[in-house]
Amino acid sequence: MAAVLDSTPAHLRGNGRPVTEELTVTDLQVTGSIPKELDGRYLRTGPNPLSGTSDHPFFGDGMTHGVRLRDGQAEWYKNRYVQTPFIKDPSVNILDPSVMMDMTSSKANTHVIGHAGKILALEEGHFPYVLDGDLDTVGPTDFDGVLKGSFTAHPKICPVTGELLAFGYSAMEPYLRYLRVSADGEMVQTENITVGGPTMMHDFNITENYVIFMDLPACFNMELAMKGEMPIRWDDSYPARLGVMPRNGTDADVTWYDISSCYVFHPMNSYEEGDKIVLDVARFSHMWRESSMDFPSPELWRWTIDTKTGKVHEEQIDDRSAEFPRVADSVIGLKHRYGYMASQDFAGGDPANASGAILKYDRETGARSDIEFGRGCVGGEPVFVPSADPQNEDDGYLMTYLYDADADSSRFVIMDAASMDNTPVASVDLPRVPNGFHGSWVDASVAD
Ligand SMILES: [Fe+2]
Repeated sequence: MAAVLDSTPAHLRGNGRPVTEELTVTDLQVTGSIPKELDGRYLRTGPNPLSGTSDHPFFGDGMTHGVRLRDGQAEWYKNRYVQTPFIKDPSVNILDPSVMMDMTSSKANTHVIGHAGKILALEEGHFPYVLDGDLDTVGPTDFDGVLKGSFTAHPKICPVTGELLAFGYSAMEPYLRYLRVSADGEMVQTENITVGGPTMMHDFNITENYVIFMDLPACFNMELAMKGEMPIRWDDSYPARLGVMPRNGTDADVTWYDISSCYVFHPMNSYEEGDKIVLDVARFSHMWRESSMDFPSPELWRWTIDTKTGKVHEEQIDDRSAEFPRVADSVIGLKHRYGYMASQDFAGGDPANASGAILKYDRETGARSDIEFGRGCVGGEPVFVPSADPQNEDDGYLMTYLYDADADSSRFVIMDAASMDNTPVASVDLPRVPNGFHGSWVDASVAD
């Protein structure tokens, strides 16, 4: 008898399967003790195709999963679609040029943050979507008409000024636009920036005085766009560069530094040290060379830009595969000692043998300590939340959703970031939360 071939795309198997219901669960089983000092929401978004399928892992409809913590209790778990045009009309095609150019046509599936009293669900090709504290959609925002194009999924909140520093990239000129939003949510600067071409710029870096753009060889490809495929492909002829610009600067102020060819979706953090700028990044040797499903293994690297010599020193820090790097929000753009990453081994799509870990890098001593979740358990991006009165940079908690293949369900776990103990401080049983991308701890003071 012929074998039955499963035509389900790899990204929609195991815990990639979308969930079909929007739930509100208030009777939550907690193991351990939720710290009373935690008053807010852990929010994380990810792609959850309403139709049940998507051609690429980045194309699913954005669904936000949230847990509300207050007074040592987990008040609720909710999951909600962001009400984009794709939810209202599932026949809308994300690769239709008129849809790509409509800035309200976001999938809102990449990141969710809190800034200036608003919760923003983000995707990199369109406007942000505003959510309320119950994860219901308020609508897209163009910052009172100032934003004319896309807005990155990875803006940075400066812990010193409260500004939201961002950018938008496009397949059409201008390929890159720098965006600066004040602490109270007003877009106060937009600057067109000259890059080598229509590069896919997923994330960027800030320091106390600069922003650093990553102009890398994954570029918009018109031929693929015409065929209705993911329109980004690796280009061996495209130089890899880092562009350093004063935070209030213009295109003319950007200094470019050559680096070896590579791709970086996510930096861990960056900071200034004398004449040098240090960037810790999750680096891939290339991206999407053979196809848009060609993901090589990412590892932690350090780039040190010497602004006096114009050279960049590049150093691999670890050879364990890891992505989704984070630091404490309080040290973004400032010198960090600790960084946290997710290591995910999906065992070729076999959920029972998949395994995950949180890696903690001590960049002062060079040590790494790990929380291993064990066979069948995979976590996501570790979000650091400080304790109420932190004495050290790592005084606080790491939060993520953890999928348990044996139970085919998920847990929200709060881990101790200082001790990196394998036993959670608290663990909240949840319905299954599919694999996703990024999220944040949004303090109750931001939105309630
Ligand atoms: Fe990302």
